[in-house]
Amino acid sequence: MGRLIIISNRLPFSIDREGDQLTLRQSSGGLVSAIKSYFESESSKNRGFTEKLWLGVADFPQNEWTVVAEKLEGRDFEVIPLFLNKLLYKDYYNGFSNSLLWPLFHYFPSLVEYQAHYYDAYVKVNRAFADKLKPLLQPDDTVWVHDYQLMMLPEMLRTDNPDITVGFFLHIPFPSYELFRMLPAEWKSSLLKGVLGSDLVGFHTHDYAQHFLQSVKMILGVDSNFHNMQYQDRLVKADLFPISIDYKKFNTACDDPETKQHYKDIRNNFEGKKIIFSVDRLDYTKGLMDRLNAFEYFLEQYPEWREKVVFILNIVPSRDDIQAYNDRKQQIEQKIGTINGKISTITWQPIIYRYTHLPFNELAALYKAADVALITPLRDGMNLVAKEYVASCSARIGVLILSELAGAANELNEALLVNPTDIVEVSNAINKALTMPQEEQQHRMALMQQRLSDYDVIKWVSDFLDQLSNVKVEQEKQQVK
Ligand code: G6P
Repeated sequence: MGRLIIISNRLPFSIDREGDQLTLRQSSGGLVSAIKSYFESESSKNRGFTEKLWLGVADFPQNEWTVVAEKLEGRDFEVIPLFLNKLLYKDYYNGFSNSLLWPLFHYFPSLVEYQAHYYDAYVKVNRAFADKLKPLLQPDDTVWVHDYQLMMLPEMLRTDNPDITVGFFLHIPFPSYELFRMLPAEWKSSLLKGVLGSDLVGFHTHDYAQHFLQSVKMILGVDSNFHNMQYQDRLVKADLFPISIDYKKFNTACDDPETKQHYKDIRNNFEGKKIIFSVDRLDYTKGLMDRLNAFEYFLEQYPEWREKVVFILNIVPSRDDIQAYNDRKQQIEQKIGTINGKISTITWQPIIYRYTHLPFNELAALYKAADVALITPLRDGMNLVAKEYVASCSARIGVLILSELAGAANELNEALLVNPTDIVEVSNAINKALTMPQEEQQHRMALMQQRLSDYDVIKWVSDFLDQLSNVKVEQEKQQVK
């Protein structure tokens, strides 16, 4: 067994600065927590990779690498930072990745900015990743490329090394062909060809995989047989692998004294009140405005809950130098101010709003303290917050209200599933959640917990890597014939 090389736009840590002091914080997003948990697991040790490496863009200048490298000592994987020109990175990250692919793939076509220089930067940065890896690559390496920022990389890697083993996973939805076809001809075919440089392509849901296969057929004329494609005389497989969480970590989080203390503080602070909780990156896909409208409507429709419920809304800063994100932040904060101004009493404020990264212990305490988790994205590839809430702390009561437009809704059927834009439905679901008998809460939770503990993130990674090896075996068999 050779080495495992993970490639993602972000490294698994980000740098926080206070004066001259640099501290490392785990980057946000499901991908990072998934792979980190896998790296720390027995399963990854048993698999026998000789080394684990992680290649991603550095969010610090090259001259700070020595300081950062010192802080990374003792980790069980090696970090390979890629240093990029700031302007180029901006056009690739803020531009093509987050002002074109992100809105299009999340069904917000009106926010898409079609700019040729964004596309050029995307190609160049994908090329820079390939160039960085080229001299480092060994014949028995397994390379796993992640997410929409790097869709062209698999093909580039294969051109450099035709026998490479490479998997690609898309962490966001793959949109229906009707959306994808809106891209200019060269862009859409390069993105698909880029991905098809892999041996195995993974998606969160059956629908995303089907959408991809349909686009491949309509745009490149490549047919699929079930999940298999024959592309440039090579077998390429596209399948579903719904990402999960580190179930054990969340399930046992409440045993930790620090989490217990946070939990006690929260409960004391809101004594006698029900807690509704949300945590999301700041993103227009998360449906925060609709959620606030629904909460306001709930307080109007069910005035008996006034002074008896608080909504703790934690927004995690994200992509704040992109206009569409910044605008949204202002609108949300205005809306919160309006609701609190209108409905608060001298002793009660309906919404507690924070705009911050939450440390793990505090997050786990909030999950445990929350009577209801209100998770209503307008679109979401998966949504791991929903899974984390369900898994948090073993003796579980609480109710999950979840958008039917999140990938997670396919697996968490015992949640109260809602259409996030229907404020009447969401408001009724909040009331139903707050009045649900405890036995019913426990029953629903137990079923969902079972499912999550059966297929946790370690299984997710192992499953993907197993199938990747299987595809290589299949390819060899085809060559022998
Ligand atoms: C989503 C994406 C990830 C991304 C994360 C955080 O989960 O699928 O690729 O890393 O959001 O976004 P950011 O732009 O801050 O990396």
